[in-house]
Amino acid sequence: MQHPKTAKYDKQFVSDNLMGPNALKMVEELTANLDLHPGMRVLDLGCGKGLTSIFLAKEFGVQVFATDLWITATENYSRFKQVGLDSRIIPIHADATALPYADEYFDAVISIDAYYYFGKNETFMDEKLAPLIKPNGIIALAFPGFKKDIHANLPPEFLLSWTAEDLETFHSCEWWSNLFSKSKKIRLDKVGELSCHGECWADWLATDNPYAVRDRPSMEAGAGKYMNLISVMATKRS
Ligand SMILES: C[S@@+](CC[C@H](N)C(=O)[O-])C[C@H]1O[C@@H](n2cnc3c(N)ncnc32)[C@H](O)[C@@H]1O
Repeated sequence: MQHPKTAKYDKQFVSDNLMGPNALKMVEELTANLDLHPGMRVLDLGCGKGLTSIFLAKEFGVQVFATDLWITATENYSRFKQVGLDSRIIPIHADATALPYADEYFDAVISIDAYYYFGKNETFMDEKLAPLIKPNGIIALAFPGFKKDIHANLPPEFLLSWTAEDLETFHSCEWWSNLFSKSKKIRLDKVGELSCHGECWADWLATDNPYAVRDRPSMEAGAGKYMNLISVMATKRS
C-alpha cells in the first residue's frame, strides 16, 4: 500500500518519535475509509509521543484528545507546539482504565499499537471505553498480534528478543473477534489485517531506539512471519 499522507511528514521527526511499528502508516491505512471531519472530537488512546494525534488533527481537521500513560502531557504539549497544532490537540496524561472524560463525549476513538496493553479483558470495552463514545460513534483500533495463537508452542526465534510473558498480549484476529463479539455496547464491523505490517516493522527496526535494537534479533530470524497488524472497526450502539 502507498502512504501518500505519511510521506509528507519529516522522516527524522517520525523516526525520533516512533515507539513501535510505524504508527503513521498504521493510522493512515486504518483511517483510509473513515468519515472523520472538522468539528469531530477524537480520542487518541495510548497516543505515545503523539505522532498519530498530529496526523489526525492535520489530515482531518478534527480536535484530538491525545491521551497516554507513559508519556507526560507536558512532553506531548511541547511536540504539539513545535508543529503548530497545540490549539487542536489536547495532551492528557491518564490511564485508559480510569479516563477523565464525560460519557458520550467523543465522535470517535482511535488507538494505534496500544489497545492490547489495557483492553484484552471482557469488561474494558463496555465499562471503560464505550460509555465515552457518542451513539453511532467510530471505534478504530490497530495493534500487533499473531496470525494464529501460538502461545503454547512459541517458535524459538521469538525468544531471541522477548520472553513468553512479553508476548502474552499478542493474539489472533479470531481471538479478538471473539472478545469484541461479547461486547453489548458496540457493534463489531470488521477485524482484519493491515497490509503495511512488513514496512511498519522495517521502519521501526531501522531506528536507533533501544527497544527497536532489542526487537531486531527475533525479527531478523523470521519471527515476523507469525505476526500481523490487526485492525478492528466497530460502532457504538445507539
Ligand atoms: C508501543 S507504545 C505506542 C504508542 C503510540 N500509539 C505509537 O504507536 O507510537 C504503547 C503506548 O500505550 C500506552 N499505554 C499502555 N498502557 C496504557 C494505559 N493503561 N493507559 C493509557 N495508555 C497506555 C503507553 O503509554 C504507550 O505510549
